[in-house]
Amino acid sequence: RPEVVRTIADLRARVLDWRRRGETTAMVPTMGALHEGHLSLVREGFRRADHVVVTIFVNPTQFAPHEDFQSYPRTEAHDLELLTGLSADLVFAPNAAEMYPLGFATRIEPQGAALGLETEFRPHFFGGVATVVAKLLLAGLPDIAIFGEKDFQQLAVVRQMVRDLNIPTEIVGAPTMREADGLALSSRNAYLTAGERAAAPILYATMTDAARRIRAGEPAATVLVEGSAAILDAGFDKVDYLTLRDAASLAAVEHVSREPLRLLVAAWIGRTRLIDNIAV
Ligand code: PAJ
Repeated sequence: RPEVVRTIADLRARVLDWRRRGETTAMVPTMGALHEGHLSLVREGFRRADHVVVTIFVNPTQFAPHEDFQSYPRTEAHDLELLTGLSADLVFAPNAAEMYPLGFATRIEPQGAALGLETEFRPHFFGGVATVVAKLLLAGLPDIAIFGEKDFQQLAVVRQMVRDLNIPTEIVGAPTMREADGLALSSRNAYLTAGERAAAPILYATMTDAARRIRAGEPAATVLVEGSAAILDAGFDKVDYLTLRDAASLAAVEHVSREPLRLLVAAWIGRTRLIDNIAV
């Protein structure tokens, strides 16, 4: 079983011990309810560092009052079992008071990569993510930290923040793990009814088809309008966005260029909001 620590002091002491011995540390920040996507980040951590610390913290500051903070799945015992199988060294699972003690009053407000997309629909989100990720990185001071491309804009925001604030941790992106039918693994997939689960792969199918058509020279605007219609036809209730972006800046693009491009989607099915993205 990995050792579980609940205080910043214990986390920092463990990582410092390893550093003094000349050993490196990778951090994998998560909100728990671990699945194969998270585990792939842990494996990537072991490819790149001597030790892997998984953080498990359902961060209240990235949820709006009407969102699913209360109902977000909390499965610590099962998470620890999964991590035992991977021989993860350490789990940092603080309570809310350890991360946000009485009097806490500082918030990072990322701009740049944080503007648009998710922020249009969840304006509080990246401020909360940037603040907690900065705190986790500064608490543990790992050599590297691994984030999934599943949350593509989040990865861009974290890279930007670490650069802007001189946090001495290298940020590594890792590819999205999917079910056999293409649905990206997500802790929120647990919310889906059987019928919604059956409809959900349309997101990946639509993006794959759109990427092929855009590469073949069809106008992106038409392809994206038709893609949104296909997602709604399949049973989704609302498409927040289905958009073609520059993969580095996330700026909107109308025409295919030589720069790497990314398709990103966010859509509601029932009470669940799913996001996904692929390279074009
Ligand atoms: P969470 O949703 O638990 O995700 C933790 C990490 O796992 C993120 O880097 C996410 O991109 C990655 N991940 C999720 N699903 C994945 C998949 N199918 N394939 C590969 N990687 C996947 O993202 C968060 O938590 C939080 O915002 C956090 C960064 C921990 C800050 O609270």
